[in-house]
Amino acid sequence: MQQVFTRAMARNVFLGSAAFFLVIYIVLTTQTWHEIPVRDHAARMSAAVREGKYLVDVNDCQGCHTINGEGSYFAPELDNVYTRRGPDFLRAWIMAQPTGAPGRRQMPNFHLSPTQVDDIVAYLQWLSNVDTNHWPPNIQG
Ligand code: HEC
Repeated sequence: MQQVFTRAMARNVFLGSAAFFLVIYIVLTTQTWHEIPVRDHAARMSAAVREGKYLVDVNDCQGCHTINGEGSYFAPELDNVYTRRGPDFLRAWIMAQPTGAPGRRQMPNFHLSPTQVDDIVAYLQWLSNVDTNHWPPNIQG
């Protein structure tokens, strides 16, 4: 018996596949929108955390650093830097730049006020509490 793949069959395969993957797309999108607030605790962002995020954005920290792998790989990951270093180190570090240490990459000084530095540290602390499925995979980022 001769098998013929007709136009109607091709159309049905197309429409069936499109409908199938549209359903998967809608389910995964809905699940993602439901999951993000549970994982990032955005509702718990204080005014200081929001200001810190703003300062990190306008000073283009991701021009050199990554946050959850997004950004430049010139300098260490910032998502878990709060866990790695703690608040006192972070405050002192940001204020003390550039170190001028020979042979090391340099970070600029952004001339931030102590309050602005505190806001950035608050944002870095908030970042460290976002559930990223254990990303980055090690404490060094
Ligand atoms: C021009 C590139 C550049 C920019 C922009 C930059 N950094 Fe850095 N940063 C570095 C480099 C390079 C290091 C590592 C220096 C070293 O280890 O001696 C570093 C290190 C750090 C560290 C310590 C990381 C660790 O693991 O010890 C923190 C915290 C940090 N930066 C925060 C920031 C913040 C916040 C901003 C934005 C306000 C910023 N950086 C913008 C280059 C940059």
